[in-house]
Amino acid sequence: RTLRIGLIPGDGIGKEVIPAGRRLLESLPSSLNLKFEFVDLKAGFETFEQTGAALPDKTVEILKNECDGALFGAVSSPSTAVKGYSSPIVALRKRLDLYANVRPVKSVMTAKNPIDMVIVRENTEDLYVKEEKTYEGPEGKVAEAIKRISYKASFRIAKMAGEIALRRQKIRDSGVPSIHKSPMVTITHKSNVLSQTDGLFRATAREALADPRFKSVGVEEQIVDSMVYKLFRQPETYDVIVAPNLYGDILSDGAAALVGSLGLVPSANVGEGFAIGEPCHGSAPDIMGKNIANPIATLRSVALMLEFMDEEAAAAKIYAAVDGNLEEGKLLSPDLGGSATTTEVVEDILRRL
Ligand code: NAI
Ligand code: MG
Repeated sequence: RTLRIGLIPGDGIGKEVIPAGRRLLESLPSSLNLKFEFVDLKAGFETFEQTGAALPDKTVEILKNECDGALFGAVSSPSTAVKGYSSPIVALRKRLDLYANVRPVKSVMTAKNPIDMVIVRENTEDLYVKEEKTYEGPEGKVAEAIKRISYKASFRIAKMAGEIALRRQKIRDSGVPSIHKSPMVTITHKSNVLSQTDGLFRATAREALADPRFKSVGVEEQIVDSMVYKLFRQPETYDVIVAPNLYGDILSDGAAALVGSLGLVPSANVGEGFAIGEPCHGSAPDIMGKNIANPIATLRSVALMLEFMDEEAAAAKIYAAVDGNLEEGKLLSPDLGGSATTTEVVEDILRRL
């Protein structure tokens, strides 16, 4: 099988970690029978300064018409608004209808309290529809925002969470060690207070996960505030978490803090038949150009992208190689207390493949 991958390094360390992702794909064992073609694509602040567009139409067209998947590095956003500039990854999610944001958070098995969870965040609606207004009430200014939850979006995100739970089990069954024995999805909501909006999310997620396809997947639910408490006290209990947009945003950044460095945490932006792997971190201008950025968030994002292309075997090999590097702990980048360069970490992981 030949897969065509769009590469969007963006700004800062994006230019250092995306080439590492490419090298990883090129180094996958030939027994997997996978070939890759790469298309270099532009987006980001530098692109904006050069061309006047942070996300050139050509990038979107090529992703849509020619690519099976993509990798996105990071982009710099100026701290004060620049006329005409807006975040290309936000625009890309919209234009390609990448309705899910998937963020696995995993420690090594040898950690004191090992964790291995993935947060599946709905990415198109909830309070982020940005329908806000401000008006003068009888007692002063009032601001309001719409929280929109639909059956369609809730159903498809819960279905995706179920599919991810099954796939994670398949990867565990193939021998990648994990703390979980069986798949579980936790539905996050606040329907005790927001009985209509979060109530719809909860009921719809239950309905989607009741599909016989998911009969091996355990389903539980949790109110978001108590969930935050438990996420920090007993993070090991979570396998797959599914959440509406706002709660998912907060939970996924919080969960990322459980594992030591932003440089370890991958993500994927996923739609129907298309996924963009993206490390969670930004462009890290403070360390750019020094060859010390941790490439692991990107390498794990490559594996995650491959999962959504139904290439679990390739993904499992990458996860195992990354875990091997972290568990041995000899070649770690400075964010993890080591002194290895980006190149050395990548090469150690490629050797383990
Ligand atoms: P950041 O994630 O770029 O960096 C935060 C801290 O983590 C820095 O000290 C950095 O050196 C460190 N760090 C991040 N990734 C690392 C890696 N792979 N290895 C080792 N250390 C790493 O966030 P910050 O500093 O708030 O933002 C910098 C720029 O990135 C801004 O322009 C911001 O707008 C942009 N940004 C872009 C994102 C994206 O493209 N999705 C996400 C977050 C920020
Ligand atoms: Mg966020």
